[in-house]
Amino acid sequence: MPKPSAGKLAKVAREARACTRCPLYKNATQTVFGEGPVGVPLMLVGEQPGDQEDLAGRPFVGPAGKMLDRALADAGIDREKVYVTNVVKHFKNEPRGKRRLHKKPNRYEVEVCKVWFDQELALVRPTIVLAMGVTAASALAGKAVTLSRLRGQVVSFDNAAGQRGLVTIHPSSILRAPDEAGRRAAYAGLVKDLKRAGKAAAKLPKAAWSGTAPTRKAVSSRA
Ligand code: URA
Repeated sequence: MPKPSAGKLAKVAREARACTRCPLYKNATQTVFGEGPVGVPLMLVGEQPGDQEDLAGRPFVGPAGKMLDRALADAGIDREKVYVTNVVKHFKNEPRGKRRLHKKPNRYEVEVCKVWFDQELALVRPTIVLAMGVTAASALAGKAVTLSRLRGQVVSFDNAAGQRGLVTIHPSSILRAPDEAGRRAAYAGLVKDLKRAGKAAAKLPKAAWSGTAPTRKAVSSRA
């Protein structure tokens, strides 16, 4: 198995900066590539950069990122030791006055952009990927999935070389919860899933990726 290479990842990130594979680049400030060390056991993946990420050129630095940082701290996970990225690298948005409203990427945009995420996966080689939100979970599974059906267990994503991972809610969904009780419950769920992911990443040896862990559940893209 090749060694993780920061140099190769930096090269891919440079290539991604010039990406015009789908029209999303036209309306965005810049490509927002993932960040973090290669070879770390845990990768967190979201949907796409938001307004602040688009301006800063870094993933999860806006309101959802602040929520994620808080949850990571409560889960006892150091963000510096995690690779953080998105399946889509450009901010899809619709200008509305002075604001830019987030628009969900469609299947084509996710599929076309996945060339970058797949390379991040191959070069970072995490033991566990925590897919945050349905866009990330579906991109990894290669088909539309329901978070509630997969949540709480280590799954094997069929289409990504058997990549193991877990799914959880997107941190921004906490901000959209209708009331304080809902926000608290959603936040507690995210922290719990982060802890699960951290534990699984520390426990499962990289060499056992293709093995059959007792907790594993296959999410077949051919189902
Ligand atoms: N939402 C995401 O999915 N990713 C980010 O980087 C920011 C918000």
